[in-house]
Order: sequence, then C-alpha cells, then structure tokens
Amino acid sequence: MSGWGSGYVTDVTYMAGYYRPQSPAHIAVACMLNGVVSPLPGPDDPVSFLELGCGQGLGALILAASNPHWTVTAIDFSPAHIAAARDWAAEAGIENVRFLEADLSTLAEAPASASVPEADFVSMHGLWSWVSPAVQAGIVRLLRSKVKPGGAVHLSYNSLPAWGGALGVQRMMRDCGRRLASRSDRQAEEGLKLIQSLREAKALQIVRLPWVNALVERMATMPVPYLAHEYMNDAWAPCFHADVAAALADAKLEWVGSGNLIENFPELTLTDEQRELWQRFEEPLLRELVKDMCLDRSLRHDVFVRGARRVGPAERNAALMDVRLALNITPSEMPFEADMPAGRAALNRSFYGPITEGMANGPRRVGDLLALPNLEGKRNNPAELIGMLIGLEMAEPAARPGAEPAPQALRFNRVASARLSRTENLGRPIAAASYALGTGAPCTLFDLYVAERAMAGQGETNIGEWVDDLGATLDEQGRGNLREVFVRALNVRLPILRAQGVF
Ligand SMILES: C[S@@+](CC[C@H](N)C(=O)[O-])C[C@H]1O[C@@H](n2cnc3c(N)ncnc32)[C@H](O)[C@@H]1O
Repeated sequence: MSGWGSGYVTDVTYMAGYYRPQSPAHIAVACMLNGVVSPLPGPDDPVSFLELGCGQGLGALILAASNPHWTVTAIDFSPAHIAAARDWAAEAGIENVRFLEADLSTLAEAPASASVPEADFVSMHGLWSWVSPAVQAGIVRLLRSKVKPGGAVHLSYNSLPAWGGALGVQRMMRDCGRRLASRSDRQAEEGLKLIQSLREAKALQIVRLPWVNALVERMATMPVPYLAHEYMNDAWAPCFHADVAAALADAKLEWVGSGNLIENFPELTLTDEQRELWQRFEEPLLRELVKDMCLDRSLRHDVFVRGARRVGPAERNAALMDVRLALNITPSEMPFEADMPAGRAALNRSFYGPITEGMANGPRRVGDLLALPNLEGKRNNPAELIGMLIGLEMAEPAARPGAEPAPQALRFNRVASARLSRTENLGRPIAAASYALGTGAPCTLFDLYVAERAMAGQGETNIGEWVDDLGATLDEQGRGNLREVFVRALNVRLPILRAQGVF
C-alpha cells in the first residue's frame, strides 16, 4: 500500500468486471418500475454517463462501445487501472470514452473537475463502503455539481445489518493478514487461510450464522485481487441504507428504488407476515430498514434521482409497455420456478412459455408480448414481466432492436476476447458490447472465443483445434468437457448472441 491511497489497496490491481445494474438502461428501468420518470435512453440520445471508481474500466468500455454517440467518462485514482483502461480503449478504437486519473476526495474542487461533463447517469460499484468518510464526502460534492437535474445515480455498497454478522471475518482477514505478509494479495491469502482454519475449528462467530459460514467457504473460490480489494482496506465499513440516503441527499439525490429489480416487488421479497410489518410505514426509508432486517443480502444496489418526477400507474405502465426486451436464454431454458428472497416462486408456464417463445427470434416490445394471443395471465402488468425477466437475468433491455452490429462494438469484443482469454477463467461471466442492445450482452469468455471464430468462418469441424488451443494442459476427461462447452457455445449460446446483435 502507498501514501496516496489513504488506506485503500493500491499495490494490487482489481480484476476487470461488468455489472448489469451499472448500465443506464437498467438504472432507467429501476426508476420506471418505481413510477419515476427516467426514460430509457433512446437510440440516438447523446447520453452522458459517468462512472466513479471504475477500476480497469471494463463496464465503461462495454457501454461506450455499445453506444457510439454517448459520452462516457470514467474516473479512478489508480494509475495502473487508468493506464490499463486507456490501453484497451486505444486498442479497440473506442473514442467516446475518457478515463481520468483523479482522487475523488478532492476532485470536486480540483481544476480537473472542469473537464468532467454533467451526467445523465452515474454509477459507482464497489466503491462507497470501501472508502473513507472523506472520500465519500468528496463523491457527494462531485455529484452535487455533476448530476444533471433529473439525472439518476446507481450506487452499490455493503449493507447493514446483514454484514454485521461477518464484521469479525473482515477484521481478522485484514489485521492478521497484514501481520503475516507484506503485499495486499499475499495478506489476503494469509488472512483467508487463518479464517478457514478458524472455521474448521468451529469458531462460533463463523459457524453460527449460515451465510457467514457459506461466505467463508466461498471465499476459497474467489480471485485473490478481489479478496484484497474487498477485505484489506483501512476504511471499509458496511452502511445502513438510511445513512447512505442521508449522505446523498446533500447532492439533492433522492432514493427511488433498488437496482436489484426483484427487490422492487415486496410480494417477491417479503413473506406475508413481513409485508404486514413493512406496510405499517409510509416512509420509504423505514420500509427499507424493515426489508434489510428480513433479507439475507449484504450488498445493496440503490438508485437515486436528482429531482424525482413521479407519474401515476397509467403513465408508468404506458412507458413500460414500450420497453424492448431481448432474451439471454433459449425458451427451453426458461425456469418455471425461481428462488426469491420470500421463498420459491412459480412462474406461470402458460404465461412465461409463450412470452419466451415470442422472443426467440429477437427483441420484442413488452406491449406486443403482452398482446400475444396464446397467453394466459396478467396482460396489464408490464412491471412484473420486466422485473421478472430482467431481474432474474433472463433478458436485457434493447435500445436498437434489429440493428446490425456496429464496428466499434465488434472491435471491442475482439480485443476483450483476446485480452481476457490470456488472463481470466474462461467460464467467468462477463458481457459483450452490443449496439442493438445498447447495454452489455451477458456471456462468458468461451462464448466470445467461439463467436470470434464463427465470424472468421470456423464451425463444428474446428472444435478439435479450439480444444488443442485452450486445453493443451488438460487430460482426456478435461478435453472432453471442454469440447462439450464449445459445442454448447456454438449451438446454444451463439444464436442468442446473434439475436442480441453481438455479431
Ligand atoms: C473494489 S474496486 C471496484 C472497481 C470497479 N467499480 C468494479 O466494480 O470492477 C474500487 C475502485 O475504487 C478506486 N478508488 C478507491 N479509492 C478511490 C479514490 N479516493 N478516488 C478514486 N478512485 C478510488 C480503486 O482504485 C478501485 O479501482
């Protein structure tokens, strides 16, 4: 760690990642579901998007590559992150993204802030609860001057009370890890070994809460740079929702709903008994406190608006009917049951079956889907359809349905595939740039690898070469598994990505 980081990990870079709730399309849908005006960016809107704490910039790059006429500005204080992000942008020829190296604790007052454009949408993922109150205050000052009236902000953070049960895990990882090694990633590894030994020794503060116990078990599978940035910072502190809302109110930002779309539906989030208690309060922040007491969820995704304009149900539904959705799965993969925070929920087969079939050949307007003749179910509830399909990651909003792949999105995907396949687990979920969607198309690096080869005219007969290329060190069984992954990518995943305009 170094002096300029003010206690934030700076000696190890963070992994590149893409997170759906950061996308303006998702932020706008969260607003619309809650009856707040925030139109989905239209196909030619010159949206200004600002990302704070952008890491290596993958999210900003995907959004810029998918929307050539947006202005994307992404800020991080790590020169290694900014250098990597600029390098990606240059290699892929993405000209509508700018990466700025700046410390958010002082940027609002620094001359460099003049070069940061006012934003329609802002996103911060994995930043707020990991930095000190001084940085948080700097972020609020920047938001005060940079969020346009009517603009929306997405903010994720570790939340209380859920995180309360694992405070000891973080403290041990950090304090003991630091005693046992010098570089942050080594510290995280040493801290993790200790925590896992404590779990095996049945330490009460780990084993008594199932989610803490499961967290420690899962930590063994997490990339070490993630563990370092998650657990080794001086100022990390989970927050109560109301405290975050109070801090953002200083930038005239009002909490309007959850970026985790399912959480905007109390009937899916809370049991009947819990909902009765939740309903006793009119005040949204108290309702959220009741919700946070009921849920086993330690990361919140919140959406705030500067000057929220509310509309009635009729206007809201009309706007939602106009949303276009693109499937992330094949219709046969549609699960007709799903785990919700309030328990397992059934998804009506005679409703969701025809809906997903209706989307099989490409994106469709929600109003048209709800007008399908063979549908049995609520035709007047676009919110539920959108909340379920996007919230369960079955679909993405589509800004320009049917548009041909744009050159800069194609270039970006080629560079992403070549770069990330060298360093990352190929099964890791990321996203591809898509001009037709205007947001990331969820996929794995395997999918991108195969898509690149399919575009070069290769196919089923080349799978052996692909296995040789990526599976050189695997045994026979490993090669067999890899072959199956390629067959599925080619026959199942690629048609979906094609329908989403990725290639
Ligand atoms: C946990 S990482 C999340 C990165 C990225 N948003 C993501 O989700 O992949 C937090 C990021 O915030 C940056 N950061 C921390 N303190 C900062 C500060 N004071 N000013 C600017 N960036 C900061 C770090 O360099 C790091 O890239």
